Amino acid sequence: MDHFNSRNGVMFAEDVDLRTIADAVGTPVYVYSSATLERHFNVFHEAFAPLDPLVCFAVKANSNQAVLATLAKAGAGADVVSGGELKRALAAGIAPEKIVFSGVGKTADEMRLALEAGILQFNIESEPELEALNAVAASLGVVAPVSVRVNPDVDAKTHAKISTGKAENKFGISWQKVDMLYERMRTMANIKATGVDVHIGSQLTELEPFRAAFARVVELVKSLRAAGHDIHHIDLGGGLGIPYDPDVAAPPAPAAYGALIRDVLAGLDCRIILEPGRLIAGNAGILLTRVLYEKIGDNRTFYILDGAMNDLMRPAMYDAFHHIVPVEDQAGDSFAADFVGPVCESSDVFGTGRATKRLKAGDLVAIKSAGAYGAVMSSTYNSRPLVAEVLVKGDAYAVVRPRVEVEDLIAMDKVPDWI
Ligand code: LLP
Repeated sequence: MDHFNSRNGVMFAEDVDLRTIADAVGTPVYVYSSATLERHFNVFHEAFAPLDPLVCFAVKANSNQAVLATLAKAGAGADVVSGGELKRALAAGIAPEKIVFSGVGKTADEMRLALEAGILQFNIESEPELEALNAVAASLGVVAPVSVRVNPDVDAKTHAKISTGKAENKFGISWQKVDMLYERMRTMANIKATGVDVHIGSQLTELEPFRAAFARVVELVKSLRAAGHDIHHIDLGGGLGIPYDPDVAAPPAPAAYGALIRDVLAGLDCRIILEPGRLIAGNAGILLTRVLYEKIGDNRTFYILDGAMNDLMRPAMYDAFHHIVPVEDQAGDSFAADFVGPVCESSDVFGTGRATKRLKAGDLVAIKSAGAYGAVMSSTYNSRPLVAEVLVKGDAYAVVRPRVEVEDLIAMDKVPDWI
């Protein structure tokens, strides 16, 4: 459930009319709802009651400081995958002891930053990475807390580009090698094994792959403990899907996911860490755009929007579906139209054959479910500057990232004097 609702035929974000934001801030603009972020976080956390998991928001989904600060206030920790994300999480007020560091390619500088900050755990994905962490920790005279990310070789049944738990993916340590890595850790003076980690993919719409992966991880925890390792954390990653298309059955609710985890982990006595990204932020944001032109082609109608693939990559990159809704209800009959951006690429399409009433230039259109993997994946392709971001809370709103100007982009380039 989100807080983007129609009132007397006009879409609001909480108590703010989207037309007000578009007029004041311009379009395209990302609009986030605080109440939706908080609601998703709370619903997710409560799905595990009476357990009290550490919910580490996957910062890669949305790293805006205002979004992170909202979630920090609600009690969230952070799952980060770079030094940049770590700095963002800390700057937004997320305590280091609630931060886990994932990713296959942490550099020595990033490791040092995280060790100095005193984060909760490193999720390690290869033996060379473990060796590097041991060396960095030794140079600082500290001991690094480590979970090994295991690759459970489970088919997440999601889009190939966001599936991570199959043997052919670059992520995690194979089942066969994981025991050896924990034995290796015993010999390292500056590494302490504290847990086990798994993440099998994103936008999962079934629970069975989770059950299969988590059951394997539970077996691993038991066998590691039997071998004398003090395993007290189990990090189950993120990945629970969200509804994007109102005409398709919604993925399982957080309550069902929580019940599954309680069931699979019953009696294990481990602190549970979770890394949801999309579930928290996805439906808490929209990309608000304006129709530039209605172009009537030979056999189809195009609505050319001022937003484009550089602002929201997901449709072009994953053929992702985003619901497209006019901000003001329109009169007349519905027909099928394509919603496209102005970028010079055939893949700059937000939706084809979408049922819509007739729109005209200047009308506002909301591209929904854009709060996760939206602004964070944007680029300046076609020299289109990064768009503004706005956060709404009740009847108030604030620009939480100003629009970048083309002049700022030009100023970033340097022309050597020998040209
Ligand atoms: N933990 C790890 C280690 C991850 O790699 C990811 C996502 C998450 C947690 C959060 O997953 P979530 O709960 O958001 O599904 N750009 C793609 C999604 C890439 C996800 C990458 N990893 C998209 O727009 O669909």
